[in-house]
Order: sequence, then structure tokens, then C-alpha cells
Amino acid sequence: MSKRFHIRTFGCQMNVHDSEKIAGILSESGYMETDNIRDADVIVINTCNIRQKAEQKFYSDLGRLKRMKQHRPDLRIAVAGCIAQQKGEELFKRFPYVDYIFGPDNIDKLREWIDTRAQAIALEENPEYHLNELPVKRVGQVKAWVSIMYGCDNFCAYCVVPYTRGRERSRPGRDIYREVKGLAEKGYREVTLLGQNVNSYGKNLNENLDFPDLLKVLHEIEGIERIRFVTSHPKDLSDKLIEYMRDLPKVCEHIHLPIQAGSDRVLRLMNRGYTYGHYKEKVDKLRKAIPGIAITTDVIVGFPGETEEDFRCTVKALKEIGFDGIFAFKYSERPGTKAVELPDHVDEETKSQRLTEILALQEEITYRKNKGLEGEVVEVLVEGRSETDPEKMTGRTRTNKIVNFYGDEEDTGRLVDIKIIEAKQHSLYGEKV
Ligand code: 5AD
Ligand code: SF4
Repeated sequence: MSKRFHIRTFGCQMNVHDSEKIAGILSESGYMETDNIRDADVIVINTCNIRQKAEQKFYSDLGRLKRMKQHRPDLRIAVAGCIAQQKGEELFKRFPYVDYIFGPDNIDKLREWIDTRAQAIALEENPEYHLNELPVKRVGQVKAWVSIMYGCDNFCAYCVVPYTRGRERSRPGRDIYREVKGLAEKGYREVTLLGQNVNSYGKNLNENLDFPDLLKVLHEIEGIERIRFVTSHPKDLSDKLIEYMRDLPKVCEHIHLPIQAGSDRVLRLMNRGYTYGHYKEKVDKLRKAIPGIAITTDVIVGFPGETEEDFRCTVKALKEIGFDGIFAFKYSERPGTKAVELPDHVDEETKSQRLTEILALQEEITYRKNKGLEGEVVEVLVEGRSETDPEKMTGRTRTNKIVNFYGDEEDTGRLVDIKIIEAKQHSLYGEKV
């Protein structure tokens, strides 16, 4: 019987996609994937340390594996991702039952190690990583993630990513084209282009190709119906990108554009490189050029030095802009980042209150926006049966809102027109027209 692997993934889409690559490598090496961790011969934990909570969860998970390893000494345990990159050898000392440690730039090492090595570690920066083409075992059959760049050069004061994922490197356009073409041939209908800061794509390429150009090139690929991308940085959102989004029909009417805070003082402390005024201007341009575009964002509350007045600016920004959805976080101190050294850290209770307040505000706004869609007919790309409500099929609008409806299994992978009947807090219910 072939050996099995199980991957547990924490964190962002980049990590989810990295796990697809890890799964690709293990599958090529003859391993089968299993949902049940107890059946696995190899367990990979793909870690995230963007906030402390994710980090703590990983440590408690890893602690639980100790007993499993005692019972089954042949079990291989690998720690991947951002904690692996940042803690390195220290993990071997604290958790001697870990076999492999590798960072996001060294996923391919697993291939050499898996059948031959007892213990191994790889954390070195890999300036050529963006030229690799790793096998990918994808989770779905309709939508696919495609990495277009790795790393981040922005050094926002709170963020650990530039330290764990290294410098920004863009993949050559022809490699991305080939991957997306291959996906189209396999029947995928939608691609999401991935990077920490996609709209600075191309900065360090020899080719004369920027992010809007890349969109145009990929737009030509027959079979791909929808193109999305995450994440965009407001400071790099050019007029050219807005124009291309407007003019290329496959590029969906949605942008995730993290604002982080509404106060100019806090934005400066965060090293974000824009003011609220600049941000608002970009939003106005986007809305003017692309009517109906959905805009979502990330917000941090309780950044060091954030006063009540600063926080009110964030509340005001959320009201003024009216996002379609937000991810909101309490500031979490990350060792090694600039923000740690800033004065006037905000106490936990104040952070919690601020978070509760903006989440409640956003619930209202999101619901109001969803309500506005009732009666409209929208195009939905059907992804399959709904996991939470298996009687219905599920998919997303071009604006990335979830729609559930009664339909057929055969609708999977198709674009169908759905009339929205009822808005809910986190999804829409509709009927086929
Ligand atoms: N504390 C809280 N939130 C953070 N993020 C990044 N670093 C931190 C931190 N130290 C949030 C930002 C970013 C999202 C991916 O995670 O809002 O956009
Ligand atoms: Fe972190 Fe800022 Fe880079 Fe995003 S842009 S990954 S928040 S440093």
C-alpha cells in the first residue's frame, strides 16, 4: 500500500497555494493524500506567524504530535511556512521529534529528503525560486491559484512578511502564461493571481511587462472566463491598472485593497506610503471607471500610538467608503518588526472594544450592500455543492459574493444567471433564471 501524507495549513492564500505545491511534490514521490491525520506517514504543518494567535495554534498542534511520534517512530513530521523560516533550528531544539524544517523558498527540498534523510533543514534565501515550476496538486477543478510574485519589499511597520518571505521577485511572464494556458486546457475557468503586492509585479523583471500588461496577456487565453488577483497595495494602484480592469471583460469587478487605518498619522507610523485622502481618491476612481465594483479591505485596530481620535478616523473611513467586506484584526506584536519599538502600545481591552465596534459597523454595511442586490440577476461561476448546505449548489458572483441556489451537479464549472432572492449576512440566496 502506498504511503500517505496529511497537510495542515495556517494563514493566507499564499500558504494555501504553497500547500498545493507541497502536495504536488509528495504525490509525485508516490504518496497519497489523506484527510485523516492518524493515517498519515508524513505530516506537514504549513505555518503562519502574521499574528500571534496563528502562531500559538501551531505550537499546540505540534505539541499534540509528540505522542503520535512516540507510538510510531517512522512517522515523518515537517514544519513548513513562515514560522519555520523565522524560528529555524530553534524548532529542532524545542521539538526534537520534528524531522524536516523548510521555509517558503525551499519547498522543493522536500523532494530530495522525503525518502532518504532523517532530519534536515533549509532556510536559505533562494533568489531563483521564482523560476521554479513545482508540481501542483490543486484543491478545486473550477478555480485555481497562480503565483505571480513572491516576497514583499514594503516593510509595513507591523508586518513580518518581508522577513519570512524575503525580497520581492516576479515570475517571468511566459512561465505564468504557460501555467494559465495549461489550467485552461484542464478545464479551469477562473484564475486568481497571487502575490503579497501584485500590482508592483514586474519591478525586477528584465522583460518590459507590468501588472496591467500581464492581465492583458492572460486575458487572451481561451477557456479562462474570469481573472482575479490578490493583494493590491494602494500606493501601487496605477491609473493604467484601473483602465485595464475597466476594459478587460474577464477581469472581475472586485479588488481587495487593504486600507489598514483611517488616520494619516497612524498610516505614516505604519509606513504605508499613502494618506486617507490618497486612498479615497483611488476608490473614487475605481468606482467611477468600474460601476458596481466590490471593494474589500483589511483593517488593523490598536496599532501602537493609535488614540481614540485616530480610531474614529478608521470608523469614519469605513462609513464613508462602505466596503463590501473587511478583514479586521487587533494589532499583534511581531518580534523583529519596527512597530515593536514604537511608544504607547494600546492595551488589550481597548483593542478588543475597537475591534468589536468596527465588526458590528461592517456587519450592517455588508448586509445593506447585499440587500441592495435583491431582485438583480447576476452571473455566477458554479463551484459545486455547498458544503454548509448540501441541498444547494454554490458559486460566486464576479464581485466575489457567495451565492447559493437549487441547481444540478452538472452546473459545476458553468457560468449561470441567478436572480438574487434573499440577502443574508455572509451569502446570497438566488434562483436560476
Ligand atoms: N497584527 C495585526 N494584523 C496584521 N496584519 C499583518 N500583520 C499584522 C499584525 N502584526 C494584517 C494586515 C494585512 C493582513 C494580511 O494581516 O491587515 O493586510
Ligand atoms: Fe506585510 Fe505590508 Fe508587505 Fe502586505 S505590503 S505583506 S502588510 S509588509
